[in-house]
Amino acid sequence: MEAIQLFVPTFRIEECLAEIRECLERGWTGLGYKTVEFEDAWKEYTGLPHAHFLNSATSALHLAIRLLKERDGWQDGDEVITTPLTFVSTNHVLLHENLHPVFADVDESLCLDPDSVAKRITDKTRAVMFVGLGGNIGRLPEIVRLCRRHKLRLILDAAHMAGSRWHGVHVGGEADVACFSFQAVKNLPTADSGMICFADGDLDADVRKWTWLGINKDTYSRTISQGAYKWYYEVEHAGFKYHGNSIMAALGLVGLKYLDQDNAYRRQLAAWYEAELNGAAGLSVVPVTTGCESSRHLFQIRVAHRDEVMVALNGFQIFPGVHYRDNTSYPMYAAAHGSCPQAHRASEEIISLPMHIGLQHRDVLRVCQAVRSAVAESRGQQRRRSA
Ligand SMILES: Cc1ncc(COP(=O)(O)O)c(C=O)c1O
Repeated sequence: MEAIQLFVPTFRIEECLAEIRECLERGWTGLGYKTVEFEDAWKEYTGLPHAHFLNSATSALHLAIRLLKERDGWQDGDEVITTPLTFVSTNHVLLHENLHPVFADVDESLCLDPDSVAKRITDKTRAVMFVGLGGNIGRLPEIVRLCRRHKLRLILDAAHMAGSRWHGVHVGGEADVACFSFQAVKNLPTADSGMICFADGDLDADVRKWTWLGINKDTYSRTISQGAYKWYYEVEHAGFKYHGNSIMAALGLVGLKYLDQDNAYRRQLAAWYEAELNGAAGLSVVPVTTGCESSRHLFQIRVAHRDEVMVALNGFQIFPGVHYRDNTSYPMYAAAHGSCPQAHRASEEIISLPMHIGLQHRDVLRVCQAVRSAVAESRGQQRRRSA
């Protein structure tokens, strides 16, 4: 029986090689050239006013926090409200900038619950970090209103949201800054890269100075703007080496051409899953907000005795994932353990079913059949144990 994996990226190999070949022939693989083309293509695609290409979404999230902290004069120990149901990048960057992550609970969409966020606001709160889990916007519009009312910055961790739209408009513009991931298994896979999109043009100009060690003119602009390479530059900050490179941008440029088509197919896969699993005994499907055209990075279900069901699925050669473990279960965030009961419960029940464009209808049927038997078997075992 052939194994069905959670994620398998698809690359249009000949087109990718042609884009990469251009870089190699021109002798330009680093910052500039294709990175500039990709930034322009991303702005055109999303409608966002600014975009800067980086080596990961983790770098993007770090710089989002660093620049907002600097711009608004936040103090060490100030608070950012965030979710415990995320990849740890989201929360680590707060610690990197000596900010205090305050965990709020999630709702049935597995995204931050605005009611819980509202309860966590204090006079030390400076921002909300919202994760669009699996590509879904959850109740983001309510979070936007809450942030405006309390004059809080909003950072959108849009790692899963390449191609997600809300009533036809690409996500990102509602936040002060949106951070996208083009990591190896995301909807727009490169190998590792990301995009930071500030709403404010001054912050976009600033962030460019932070991503190549604080050097005020990158090698590419020094080469193209003056015709001949000029060696002189100033160093204005102790910046980071976070910029993207032309090889990753080459992969991104090809992937972007297919993103809408690929995401439409992901939504088709999700519809097939839903047709099979909605109403099935012993499980529920994590809902997507009405009006959200989700990128469908994930298709998640909830079951009791999740670990047992996962093991049974592996027996059918099906290898799903879990997004994510409640971050307050990790020793480093343990001080907040118990503060988000909905997220904790979800983190023990969720399964991300295989979701990638190499899957066909028959694969979805096979996964669903296996899910139904694994859940039935686990429920039978529970009944026998309690008899
Ligand atoms: C929700 C979330 N945030 C941030 C990241 C970090 O993205 P990257 O791997 O591009 O740094 C990821 C990646 O898995 C993620 O899933």
